[in-house]
Amino acid sequence: MNDTIISTENLTKRFASKGKTPDVEAVRELSIEVRRGELVAFLGPNGAGKTTSLRMLTTLVPPTSGTARVVGHDIITEQPAVRAAIGYVGQGTSGSPAQRVRDELVSQGRFYGMSRTAAAERAEELVASLDITGFADQQVQNLSGGQKRRVDIAIGLMNSPTMLFLDEPSTGLDPQSRANLWRHILDLRTQHGTTVFLTTHYLEEADRYAERVMVMDSGQVIADDTARALKTELAGDAVTIRVASEERSRAGAVVGQVLQTEVTVSDDGTLTSAVPDGARLLPLALGRLAAEGLAVEAATCVPPTLDDVFLALTGRTLREAHVETDLATAAQGGTR
Ligand SMILES: Nc1ncnc2c1ncn2[C@@H]1O[C@H](COP(=O)(O)OP(=O)(O)OP(=O)(O)O)[C@@H](O)[C@H]1O
Ligand SMILES: [Mg+2]
Repeated sequence: MNDTIISTENLTKRFASKGKTPDVEAVRELSIEVRRGELVAFLGPNGAGKTTSLRMLTTLVPPTSGTARVVGHDIITEQPAVRAAIGYVGQGTSGSPAQRVRDELVSQGRFYGMSRTAAAERAEELVASLDITGFADQQVQNLSGGQKRRVDIAIGLMNSPTMLFLDEPSTGLDPQSRANLWRHILDLRTQHGTTVFLTTHYLEEADRYAERVMVMDSGQVIADDTARALKTELAGDAVTIRVASEERSRAGAVVGQVLQTEVTVSDDGTLTSAVPDGARLLPLALGRLAAEGLAVEAATCVPPTLDDVFLALTGRTLREAHVETDLATAAQGGTR
Protein backbone atom coordinates (compact mmCIF):
# COMPACT_ATOMS: atom_id res chain seq x y z
CA MET A 1 0.00 0.00 0.00
CA ASN A 2 1.23 3.47 -0.82
CA ASP A 3 1.65 5.24 2.48
CA THR A 4 2.42 8.69 1.15
CA ILE A 5 -0.37 11.20 1.64
CA ILE A 6 1.44 14.40 0.70
CA SER A 7 4.32 14.65 -1.66
CA THR A 8 5.65 17.86 -3.11
CA GLU A 9 8.37 18.46 -5.61
CA ASN A 10 10.07 21.86 -5.80
CA LEU A 11 6.85 23.60 -4.85
CA THR A 12 7.46 27.33 -5.20
CA LYS A 13 5.33 30.42 -4.74
CA ARG A 14 6.43 33.85 -5.81
CA PHE A 15 4.21 36.84 -5.19
CA ALA A 16 4.61 39.56 -7.80
CA SER A 17 5.99 42.85 -6.58
CA LYS A 18 3.79 45.80 -5.83
CA GLY A 19 5.34 49.15 -6.73
CA LYS A 20 9.01 49.26 -5.87
CA THR A 21 9.14 46.29 -3.54
CA PRO A 22 10.86 43.22 -5.00
CA ASP A 23 9.01 39.95 -5.66
CA VAL A 24 8.49 37.84 -2.56
CA GLU A 25 9.55 34.22 -2.85
CA ALA A 26 7.26 33.00 -0.10
CA VAL A 27 8.00 29.28 -0.63
CA ARG A 28 11.12 28.03 -2.38
CA GLU A 29 11.39 24.59 -3.93
CA LEU A 30 9.59 22.77 -1.15
CA SER A 31 10.07 19.01 -1.52
CA ILE A 32 8.53 17.01 1.31
CA GLU A 33 6.75 13.72 1.91
CA VAL A 34 4.20 13.07 4.63
CA ARG A 35 3.00 9.57 5.44
CA ARG A 36 -0.58 8.61 6.20
CA GLY A 37 -1.45 9.08 9.87
CA GLU A 38 1.45 11.37 10.73
CA LEU A 39 1.06 14.46 12.87
CA VAL A 40 3.37 17.07 11.43
CA ALA A 41 3.99 20.53 12.87
CA PHE A 42 5.31 23.35 10.77
CA LEU A 43 7.32 25.86 12.80
CA GLY A 44 8.97 29.07 11.76
CA PRO A 45 8.91 32.83 12.27
CA ASN A 46 6.27 35.16 10.83
CA GLY A 47 6.61 35.31 7.07
CA ALA A 48 8.51 32.02 6.80
CA GLY A 49 6.03 30.69 4.25
CA LYS A 50 3.97 28.30 6.39
CA THR A 51 0.52 29.62 5.46
CA THR A 52 1.47 29.91 1.79
CA SER A 53 2.58 26.26 1.79
CA LEU A 54 -0.68 25.16 3.38
CA ARG A 55 -2.69 27.27 0.96
CA MET A 56 -0.96 25.64 -2.00
CA LEU A 57 -1.52 22.15 -0.60
CA THR A 58 -5.21 22.92 -0.03
CA THR A 59 -5.60 24.30 -3.59
CA LEU A 60 -6.35 27.83 -2.39
CA VAL A 61 -3.39 29.41 -4.17
CA PRO A 62 -1.72 28.05 -7.29
CA PRO A 63 2.03 27.41 -7.10
CA THR A 64 4.33 29.43 -9.35
CA SER A 65 6.20 26.24 -10.16
CA GLY A 66 6.62 22.71 -8.89
CA THR A 67 4.05 20.00 -8.24
CA ALA A 68 2.29 18.33 -5.34
CA ARG A 69 -0.07 15.45 -4.72
CA VAL A 70 -2.37 15.41 -1.72
CA VAL A 71 -4.38 12.29 -0.82
CA GLY A 72 -3.43 10.86 -4.20
CA HIS A 73 -4.56 13.85 -6.27
CA ASP A 74 -2.72 16.57 -8.10
CA ILE A 75 -3.25 20.00 -6.50
CA ILE A 76 -3.38 21.73 -9.87
CA THR A 77 -5.28 19.37 -12.17
CA GLU A 78 -7.49 17.59 -9.62
CA GLN A 79 -8.57 20.33 -7.26
CA PRO A 80 -12.12 19.09 -6.52
CA ALA A 81 -10.80 15.64 -5.52
CA VAL A 82 -8.21 17.19 -3.22
CA ARG A 83 -10.83 19.44 -1.63
CA ALA A 84 -13.25 16.58 -1.03
CA ALA A 85 -10.62 14.63 0.89
CA ILE A 86 -9.23 17.37 3.10
CA GLY A 87 -10.29 19.71 5.86
CA TYR A 88 -8.69 23.11 6.19
CA VAL A 89 -8.86 25.56 9.05
CA GLY A 90 -7.24 28.79 8.00
CA GLN A 91 -5.47 31.38 10.06
CA GLY A 92 -8.29 33.56 11.34
CA THR A 93 -11.16 32.40 9.20
CA SER A 94 -14.71 32.19 10.45
CA GLY A 95 -17.90 31.32 8.67
CA SER A 96 -20.60 33.76 7.56
CA PRO A 97 -20.98 36.39 10.32
CA ALA A 98 -24.78 36.47 10.45
CA GLN A 99 -25.30 32.68 10.51
CA ARG A 100 -26.03 30.85 13.72
CA VAL A 101 -23.19 28.48 14.61
CA ARG A 102 -25.26 25.31 14.15
CA ASP A 103 -26.60 26.43 10.76
CA GLU A 104 -23.12 27.42 9.65
CA LEU A 105 -21.82 23.93 10.39
CA VAL A 106 -24.68 22.34 8.47
CA SER A 107 -24.15 24.62 5.45
CA GLN A 108 -20.46 23.78 5.43
CA GLY A 109 -21.32 20.08 5.48
CA ARG A 110 -23.72 20.61 2.57
CA PHE A 111 -20.91 22.41 0.73
CA TYR A 112 -18.81 19.26 1.10
CA GLY A 113 -21.65 17.26 -0.44
CA MET A 114 -23.16 15.77 2.74
CA SER A 115 -26.91 15.18 2.98
CA ARG A 116 -28.83 17.52 5.29
CA THR A 117 -29.43 14.72 7.82
CA ALA A 118 -25.81 13.58 7.81
CA ALA A 119 -24.61 17.18 8.11
CA ALA A 120 -26.96 17.89 11.02
CA GLU A 121 -25.84 14.73 12.84
CA ARG A 122 -22.18 15.51 12.34
CA ALA A 123 -22.74 19.12 13.47
CA GLU A 124 -24.30 17.88 16.73
CA GLU A 125 -21.37 15.53 17.36
CA LEU A 126 -18.87 18.34 16.91
CA VAL A 127 -20.92 20.83 18.96
CA ALA A 128 -20.76 18.37 21.84
CA SER A 129 -17.16 17.31 21.52
CA LEU A 130 -15.70 20.78 21.00
CA ASP A 131 -17.77 22.33 23.82
CA ILE A 132 -19.78 24.55 21.52
CA THR A 133 -23.18 23.73 23.06
CA GLY A 134 -23.32 26.97 25.08
CA PHE A 135 -23.15 29.19 22.01
CA ALA A 136 -24.39 26.93 19.22
CA ASP A 137 -27.44 29.15 18.61
CA GLN A 138 -25.58 32.45 18.59
CA GLN A 139 -24.55 34.29 15.47
CA VAL A 140 -20.93 33.72 14.47
CA GLN A 141 -20.24 37.49 14.57
CA ASN A 142 -21.10 37.71 18.28
CA LEU A 143 -18.63 35.07 19.46
CA SER A 144 -15.40 35.67 21.33
CA GLY A 145 -12.09 34.95 19.58
CA GLY A 146 -11.65 31.59 21.30
CA GLN A 147 -15.25 30.55 20.59
CA LYS A 148 -14.83 31.48 16.92
CA ARG A 149 -11.68 29.38 16.76
CA ARG A 150 -13.54 26.33 18.02
CA VAL A 151 -16.22 26.89 15.38
CA ASP A 152 -13.48 27.15 12.73
CA ILE A 153 -12.14 23.82 13.85
CA ALA A 154 -15.59 22.22 13.81
CA ILE A 155 -16.00 23.51 10.24
CA GLY A 156 -12.71 21.87 9.26
CA LEU A 157 -13.87 18.58 10.72
CA MET A 158 -17.39 18.49 9.26
CA ASN A 159 -16.54 16.15 6.39
CA SER A 160 -14.43 13.81 8.59
CA PRO A 161 -11.43 14.46 6.38
CA THR A 162 -8.68 11.94 5.74
CA MET A 163 -6.21 14.78 5.86
CA LEU A 164 -6.58 17.83 8.04
CA PHE A 165 -4.68 21.09 7.64
CA LEU A 166 -4.75 23.51 10.55
CA ASP A 167 -3.12 26.93 10.42
CA GLU A 168 -2.34 28.04 13.97
CA PRO A 169 -5.34 26.23 15.46
CA SER A 170 -4.50 27.08 19.05
CA THR A 171 -3.70 30.78 18.67
CA GLY A 172 -6.11 32.82 20.77
CA LEU A 173 -7.43 29.91 22.81
CA ASP A 174 -7.30 29.83 26.59
CA PRO A 175 -5.25 26.99 28.12
CA GLN A 176 -8.28 24.80 28.74
CA SER A 177 -9.57 25.17 25.19
CA ARG A 178 -6.09 24.48 23.88
CA ALA A 179 -5.96 21.27 25.88
CA ASN A 180 -9.43 20.28 24.57
CA LEU A 181 -8.39 21.02 21.05
CA TRP A 182 -5.31 18.86 21.35
CA ARG A 183 -7.31 16.03 22.85
CA HIS A 184 -9.60 16.26 19.85
CA ILE A 185 -6.73 16.26 17.37
CA LEU A 186 -5.12 13.26 19.04
CA ASP A 187 -8.48 11.43 19.15
CA LEU A 188 -8.94 12.00 15.43
CA ARG A 189 -5.69 10.24 14.81
CA THR A 190 -6.28 7.29 17.05
CA GLN A 191 -9.91 6.76 16.06
CA HIS A 192 -9.83 7.62 12.37
CA GLY A 193 -6.15 7.57 11.42
CA THR A 194 -6.47 11.18 10.25
CA THR A 195 -3.27 12.76 9.03
CA VAL A 196 -2.76 16.19 10.58
CA PHE A 197 -0.53 18.93 9.25
CA LEU A 198 -0.54 22.06 11.36
CA THR A 199 1.36 25.24 12.00
CA THR A 200 1.91 26.65 15.44
CA HIS A 201 3.91 29.31 17.21
CA TYR A 202 3.66 27.36 20.47
CA LEU A 203 6.89 25.42 20.35
CA GLU A 204 6.06 23.36 23.41
CA GLU A 205 2.90 22.10 21.69
CA ALA A 206 4.87 20.93 18.68
CA ASP A 207 7.44 19.38 20.96
CA ARG A 208 4.88 17.50 22.98
CA TYR A 209 2.37 16.33 20.41
CA ALA A 210 3.84 16.32 16.92
CA GLU A 211 5.78 13.26 15.90
CA ARG A 212 7.50 15.20 13.22
CA VAL A 213 8.61 18.82 13.17
CA MET A 214 9.46 20.79 10.07
CA VAL A 215 11.24 24.05 10.65
CA MET A 216 10.71 26.65 7.98
CA ASP A 217 12.70 29.83 7.45
CA SER A 218 12.62 32.23 4.50
CA GLY A 219 10.52 29.91 2.37
CA GLN A 220 12.58 26.77 2.92
CA VAL A 221 12.38 23.76 5.19
CA ILE A 222 15.66 23.84 7.09
CA ALA A 223 15.05 20.85 9.37
CA ASP A 224 12.68 17.89 9.35
CA ASP A 225 12.74 15.22 12.05
CA THR A 226 11.26 14.25 15.40
CA ALA A 227 11.49 16.98 18.03
CA ARG A 228 13.68 14.70 20.11
CA ALA A 229 16.17 14.06 17.31
CA LEU A 230 16.32 17.74 16.39
CA LYS A 231 16.99 18.71 19.97
CA THR A 232 19.62 16.04 20.54
CA GLU A 233 21.41 16.55 17.26
CA LEU A 234 21.24 20.28 16.94
CA ALA A 235 20.97 21.80 20.37
CA GLY A 236 22.07 19.66 23.30
CA ASP A 237 21.60 20.30 27.02
CA ALA A 238 22.62 23.73 28.32
CA VAL A 239 25.11 23.00 31.08
CA THR A 240 25.99 25.86 33.43
CA ILE A 241 28.48 25.67 36.30
CA ARG A 242 29.35 28.60 38.57
CA VAL A 243 32.79 28.21 40.08
CA ALA A 244 33.79 29.87 43.33
CA SER A 245 37.48 29.45 42.62
CA GLU A 246 39.47 32.33 41.09
CA GLU A 247 41.02 29.84 38.68
CA ARG A 248 38.20 30.22 36.18
CA SER A 249 40.01 29.43 32.99
CA ARG A 250 41.56 26.29 34.50
CA ALA A 251 38.05 25.25 35.60
CA GLY A 252 36.81 25.94 32.08
CA ALA A 253 39.52 23.73 30.62
CA VAL A 254 38.74 20.87 33.02
CA VAL A 255 35.03 21.02 32.20
CA GLY A 256 35.79 21.25 28.48
CA GLN A 257 37.81 18.04 28.72
CA VAL A 258 34.99 16.13 30.37
CA LEU A 259 32.24 17.47 28.12
CA GLN A 260 34.41 17.30 25.02
CA THR A 261 33.04 20.59 23.83
CA GLU A 262 33.67 24.31 23.86
CA VAL A 263 33.07 25.99 27.21
CA THR A 264 32.44 29.72 27.54
CA VAL A 265 33.98 31.26 30.65
CA SER A 266 32.47 34.56 31.79
CA ASP A 267 33.93 37.12 34.18
CA ASP A 268 31.62 36.20 37.06
CA GLY A 269 32.89 32.63 37.01
CA THR A 270 30.04 31.08 35.05
CA LEU A 271 30.98 28.28 32.67
CA THR A 272 28.43 27.53 29.96
CA SER A 273 28.24 24.99 27.20
CA ALA A 274 25.73 23.05 25.13
CA VAL A 275 26.29 19.32 24.92
CA PRO A 276 24.24 16.22 24.11
CA ASP A 277 23.79 14.01 27.16
CA GLY A 278 24.62 16.89 29.52
CA ALA A 279 22.63 15.37 32.38
CA ARG A 280 24.99 12.38 32.48
CA LEU A 281 28.14 14.40 31.92
CA LEU A 282 27.49 17.16 34.49
CA PRO A 283 28.14 14.97 37.58
CA LEU A 284 31.34 13.73 35.95
CA ALA A 285 32.47 17.31 35.36
CA LEU A 286 31.65 18.24 38.96
CA GLY A 287 33.64 15.23 40.18
CA ARG A 288 36.66 16.30 38.15
CA LEU A 289 36.43 19.89 39.41
CA ALA A 290 36.33 18.63 43.01
CA ALA A 291 39.30 16.33 42.37
CA GLU A 292 41.24 19.31 40.98
CA GLY A 293 40.41 21.36 44.10
CA LEU A 294 38.21 23.81 42.16
CA ALA A 295 35.20 24.83 44.29
CA VAL A 296 31.75 25.02 42.68
CA GLU A 297 28.84 27.23 43.84
CA ALA A 298 26.00 26.03 41.64
CA ALA A 299 25.30 23.91 38.60
CA THR A 300 22.33 23.39 36.26
CA CYS A 301 21.53 21.29 33.25
CA VAL A 302 18.59 22.47 31.15
CA PRO A 303 17.28 20.30 28.31
CA PRO A 304 17.00 22.07 24.96
CA THR A 305 13.82 23.50 23.49
CA LEU A 306 12.82 23.79 19.87
CA ASP A 307 13.79 27.46 20.09
CA ASP A 308 17.36 26.31 20.79
CA VAL A 309 17.09 24.18 17.66
CA PHE A 310 16.06 27.22 15.64
CA LEU A 311 18.95 29.17 17.17
CA ALA A 312 21.40 26.43 16.26
CA LEU A 313 20.08 26.34 12.70
CA THR A 314 19.86 30.04 11.97
CA GLY A 315 21.95 31.87 14.54
CA ARG A 316 18.89 33.66 15.88
CA THR A 317 16.02 32.74 18.17
CA LEU A 318 12.47 32.59 16.87
CA ARG A 319 11.69 35.65 18.96
CA GLU A 320 14.47 37.63 17.29
CA ALA A 321 13.29 36.41 13.90
CA HIS A 322 9.79 37.74 14.67
CA VAL A 323 11.19 41.13 15.61
CA GLU A 324 13.17 41.26 12.33
CA THR A 325 10.00 40.54 10.35
CA ASP A 326 8.10 43.21 12.27
CA LEU A 327 10.80 45.78 11.55
CA ALA A 328 10.92 44.84 7.86
CA THR A 329 7.15 45.09 7.62
CA ALA A 330 7.15 48.45 9.37
CA ALA A 331 9.93 49.70 7.05
CA GLN A 332 7.78 48.80 4.03
CA GLY A 333 4.92 50.74 5.60
CA GLY A 334 2.82 47.59 5.61
CA THR A 335 0.83 45.70 8.16
CA ARG A 336 0.65 42.03 8.76
N1 LIG B 1 -1.13 37.37 -1.10
C1 LIG B 1 0.14 37.76 -0.91
N2 LIG B 1 0.69 38.72 -1.66
C2 LIG B 1 1.97 39.13 -1.50
N3 LIG B 1 2.80 38.59 -0.58
C3 LIG B 1 2.31 37.62 0.22
C4 LIG B 1 0.96 37.15 0.10
N4 LIG B 1 0.75 36.19 1.03
C5 LIG B 1 1.93 36.06 1.69
N5 LIG B 1 2.85 36.91 1.21
C6 LIG B 1 4.25 37.02 1.66
O1 LIG B 1 4.84 35.72 1.64
C7 LIG B 1 5.68 35.51 2.74
C8 LIG B 1 5.24 34.28 3.49
O2 LIG B 1 3.98 34.54 4.11
P1 LIG B 1 3.16 33.43 4.92
O3 LIG B 1 1.84 34.02 5.25
O4 LIG B 1 3.18 32.17 4.14
O5 LIG B 1 4.06 33.27 6.22
P2 LIG B 1 3.78 32.45 7.58
O6 LIG B 1 4.95 31.58 7.77
O7 LIG B 1 2.45 31.82 7.52
O8 LIG B 1 3.81 33.61 8.67
P3 LIG B 1 2.91 33.79 10.04
O9 LIG B 1 3.63 33.02 11.08
O10 LIG B 1 3.00 35.27 10.28
O11 LIG B 1 1.54 33.33 9.77
C9 LIG B 1 5.64 36.80 3.54
O12 LIG B 1 6.74 37.59 3.17
C10 LIG B 1 4.34 37.44 3.11
O13 LIG B 1 4.40 38.84 3.24
MG1 LIG C 1 0.76 32.03 8.63
